[in-house]
Amino acid sequence: MTVKFYSGEEIPLEMHKVRIVQKLNLPPVEERVKAMKEAGYNTFLLQNQDVYMDMLTDSGVNAMSDRQQASMLVADDSYAGSTTFTRLQQKIEEIFGTKYFLPTHQGRACENIISQVFVKPGTTVPMNYHFTTTKAHITLNGGTVEEIFEDEALNLESTELFKGNMDIEKLTALIEERGADKIAFIRVEAGTNLIGGQPHSVENLKQVRAVCDQYGLKLVYDISLLADNLHFIKEREEAYKNASIREITRELSDQAHILYFSARKLGFARGGAICTNSEEDYLAMREYITLYEGFLTYGGMSVREMEAITVGLEETMDEQYISQGPKFIQYMSDELQKKGVPVVLPAGGLGCHIDASRFVPHLDQTAYPAGALAAAIYIASGARGMERGTMSEQRDEEGNETLSHMELVRMAMPRRVFTLSQVKYVVDRIAWLYENRELIGGMTFVEEPKVLRFFFGKLDATSDWPEKLAAKFREDFGDSL
Ligand code: F0G
Repeated sequence: MTVKFYSGEEIPLEMHKVRIVQKLNLPPVEERVKAMKEAGYNTFLLQNQDVYMDMLTDSGVNAMSDRQQASMLVADDSYAGSTTFTRLQQKIEEIFGTKYFLPTHQGRACENIISQVFVKPGTTVPMNYHFTTTKAHITLNGGTVEEIFEDEALNLESTELFKGNMDIEKLTALIEERGADKIAFIRVEAGTNLIGGQPHSVENLKQVRAVCDQYGLKLVYDISLLADNLHFIKEREEAYKNASIREITRELSDQAHILYFSARKLGFARGGAICTNSEEDYLAMREYITLYEGFLTYGGMSVREMEAITVGLEETMDEQYISQGPKFIQYMSDELQKKGVPVVLPAGGLGCHIDASRFVPHLDQTAYPAGALAAAIYIASGARGMERGTMSEQRDEEGNETLSHMELVRMAMPRRVFTLSQVKYVVDRIAWLYENRELIGGMTFVEEPKVLRFFFGKLDATSDWPEKLAAKFREDFGDSL
């Protein structure tokens, strides 16, 4: 559903108003160069007070509604028998149809527990695409990950509407080759994060479930990014055009044996959950909750956040709420594309993904083009995105670079947070940067941690390109911030 403008202009219209605000700072470009340098050209290390638009992630930074804020006042702190737990459990059961709910402190905690219980050494977990924390927990337990995506998934400029779909033939072939007893479970991720927030279809999930039934395997469904995926199913999958979001949700959740999610994304709050109808699986996982997370009524979450999740899940069933993110991302991607900037197409959920390999083709992958572009975007705009390229990879045992499949900068769109003029602003600055792209130079590590180097690693520019970029900014923008 879109609201049409008489003028014919096609822009997404916010179906909410802002009632709590946070002051933002936009430091002058010279200070942005200084802040970027001090942060070792790593956007993770910037201080938020130096950031105008924080587009690093959509995790735990989505705006709460008035009803969520109000619900937090009536939380029940009792250790056992908490009514807050019961309210969330009942909302989960109402929406997903699952009887058993295990609370966790966030998404990766679910992955820890699911992996400890179901991944045995030497087993494989086929999935549409990995997520960093998912893969880490599976490999920690001696398993391996096999990504079974369709050929179009890695095509950055595609017309395929469901790039998150699994390739069913390849899936069956893998199970036949390894043997069903060597498959720990099959994992499908809604709104596939690392390929640009791309959705899967209901039909595809049903086909995956049929394969599970054929081989007696479990389907584990990561619904952290379900909200975006629901919007895309409604918009793009013919058979569900007239179905309600609630009906689509139930159609999806009914396919899975185990559901889990990061409530830092799904539910506009902070926390995590594992849900199932299998008493056996529930009991197998339950003891790990008390071991790692907390008692079964809160699992490491604050009861206030649990109340906010209960309301947030209900709001996820509201098409007007969940379409805001993908529509803004679509708008941003379209506007950038019009100005020639290479972006991942079709636009997905989570954020707008910029293709650094085409933005700065003069930079070798070992000079971290996506990292350099993320730094340059901050210098040009005060907005911070996240490098998703070679900098996020790990060196091999001999110390050689592992070059990544893609060199992307993810400009995440926290839900219900930014206004359209802010999105227009960041588009304007990135378009300016694109026209001056030859000024962007490479980077080299000065402090390189062995594990997850992209979080804490510090780099330096290989020349004085940041200063030159700032000088060009001054020339073109005069005394503008
Ligand atoms: N699954 C998916 C699909 C995710 O995107 C994330 C987190 C997790 C699991 C783990 O959840 O952070 O609550 O432990 N994604 C964040 C991001 C970190 O920035 O994309 P978590």
